[in-house]
Amino acid sequence: MPTDFFDLTGQTAVVTGAARGIGAGIARRLARAGASVAVADSNLRGAETTAGQLRSEGLQAFAVEVDVSDSGSVRHAAEAVLERQERIHTLVCNAGIAGKALPTWEQADEDWQSVIDVNLSGVFYCCRAVLPSMVEHGYGRIVNIASLAGKEGNPNMVAYSASKAGVIALSKSIAKETALHDICVNAISPTVIRTPILDQITEEQVTYMTSKIPKARTGTVEEVAAVAHFLASPDCSFVTGQCYDVSGGRATY
Ligand SMILES: NC(=O)c1ccc[n+]([C@@H]2O[C@H](COP(=O)([O-])OP(=O)(O)OC[C@H]3O[C@@H](n4cnc5c(N)ncnc54)[C@H](O)[C@@H]3O)[C@@H](O)[C@H]2O)c1
Repeated sequence: MPTDFFDLTGQTAVVTGAARGIGAGIARRLARAGASVAVADSNLRGAETTAGQLRSEGLQAFAVEVDVSDSGSVRHAAEAVLERQERIHTLVCNAGIAGKALPTWEQADEDWQSVIDVNLSGVFYCCRAVLPSMVEHGYGRIVNIASLAGKEGNPNMVAYSASKAGVIALSKSIAKETALHDICVNAISPTVIRTPILDQITEEQVTYMTSKIPKARTGTVEEVAAVAHFLASPDCSFVTGQCYDVSGGRATY
């Protein structure tokens, strides 16, 4: 139900990696605030299911197929959204993969490259695709999902940690480039959130990461979505180039 605060009525939001997990939670939260949400994912069937669920709740959502690691696919997806919607007010770059949990010296070239392609190049391609329209309209909100790993560096997750550090720096750069166009670009760094991405790493790794959280628990998708909602809204008008930690107190800077 739309409220006066963080109201997104009449706006279009694109959320990548929204077929499930954190992205699906953010898509639901933005749709409940009144946005029409493009549920963008490489898993088209999953995206259609999620968008269908949101519509069955009376919300506005539609599925879009995109492989964020492929600049051509990102361009097509952005065009598809802009053919259907007048403009894109909000982009949430959430699609990401964990990669293999292995010591650096056991990681193959392709292990490194695939994580950088999705997590870092993917965010660059998506931001680049929507920014001309945001600049033209003099308004935009971009929320990039990084990770605490990008600030602290998780052992055995070198590509993931490096890619997420890159997402934080990329967000700060674009924020400075676009500040005079009423475009705000911020990052969110969650710590361990119970979603299917954790299936990609060992339970031992999950236990290690959870043990470092002062609140002594994993976070929830809704707790990340709440922060993303503020950053995606017009109310976030003097906050840009920042990284918000959703970490149960784990972040040390
Ligand atoms: N879950 C956590 O503990 C955690 C912690 C910190 C940061 N994050 C970040 O949050 C984001 C979402 O994570 P999650 O836990 O919901 O993951 P998830 O694996 O549950 O969902 C990721 C979604 O991204 C999609 N995706 C993967 N590669 C894609 C590509 N190339 N193009 C388009 N879509 C693609 C998948 O199909 C899936 O729907 C990721 O960027 C992740 O790094 C997660």
